[in-house]
Amino acid sequence: MPLLEVAGLETAYGESQVLFGISLAVDAGEVVALLGRNGAGKTTTLSSIMGLVPPRAGSIRFKDAEIRGAEPFRVARAGLGFVAEDCRLFGGLTVAENFEAARAPARGGPTRWTLDHVLELFPDVRGFLDRRASALSGGQQRMVAIARTLMGNPDMILLDEPSEGLAPLVVDALLKRLMALKASGQTVLISEQNLRFATELADRVYIIEKGEIRYDGTPRDLAAHPELRQKYLMV
Ligand SMILES: Nc1ncnc2c1ncn2[C@@H]1O[C@H](COP(=O)(O)OP(=O)(O)OP(=O)(O)O)[C@@H](O)[C@H]1O
Ligand SMILES: [Mg+2]
Repeated sequence: MPLLEVAGLETAYGESQVLFGISLAVDAGEVVALLGRNGAGKTTTLSSIMGLVPPRAGSIRFKDAEIRGAEPFRVARAGLGFVAEDCRLFGGLTVAENFEAARAPARGGPTRWTLDHVLELFPDVRGFLDRRASALSGGQQRMVAIARTLMGNPDMILLDEPSEGLAPLVVDALLKRLMALKASGQTVLISEQNLRFATELADRVYIIEKGEIRYDGTPRDLAAHPELRQKYLMV
């Protein structure tokens, strides 16, 4: 039984339909990437799962309960964390205050992520805990946003294009941190345009194009099919 199972998801903005029957599944402990070009429907898929954009058809099962149609705060409370592309930190609060605001015990089980544990994963963040979030660089904000989501002890996190807009060296640093997060056993669904970033991190990948899943396989399989990369991922 997957931790998250999405089936036949259809989402529209007003008259304009953008998801046409998305189906995907993520098992506990897996890192799964949703790869696709600009405008393919990655953010809409993650927003639909979170209930931020209400889908008009399909089902979203999380921990064996139907969550389609649930309000975003209920989805979060059920154990799904979301890191938006724009991070959505409280800019006027310090990093430490952002963490405090997000702190929540793990559902049922013992708390896994404490501040110390999160800072072990993101050691650089220790150096700017007292800085206002609005004063951080793009890469720092990304790390703080992920760390903050972990403070809520989610069973699974959705990461929307974490490498977007970051300089190559910063992307590499972030990739290292996310590899450590994966090694900790955290379940992750990550959307990406950066093929290398996604395939180094993910156990499995889906390719989305024009609101439909076109490919489902391992990074290794995808590497053996340059024509798929050409067709669905190159700009
Ligand atoms: N709020 C909105 N209202 C209307 N149309 C939207 C809205 N958000 C996205 N769209 C449209 O839905 C389609 C999918 O967009 P989405 O943001 O999900 O793609 P994406 O894969 O996340 O792209 P990107 O890589 O640029 O983030 C695009 O055609 C986009 O123009
Ligand atoms: Mg997007």
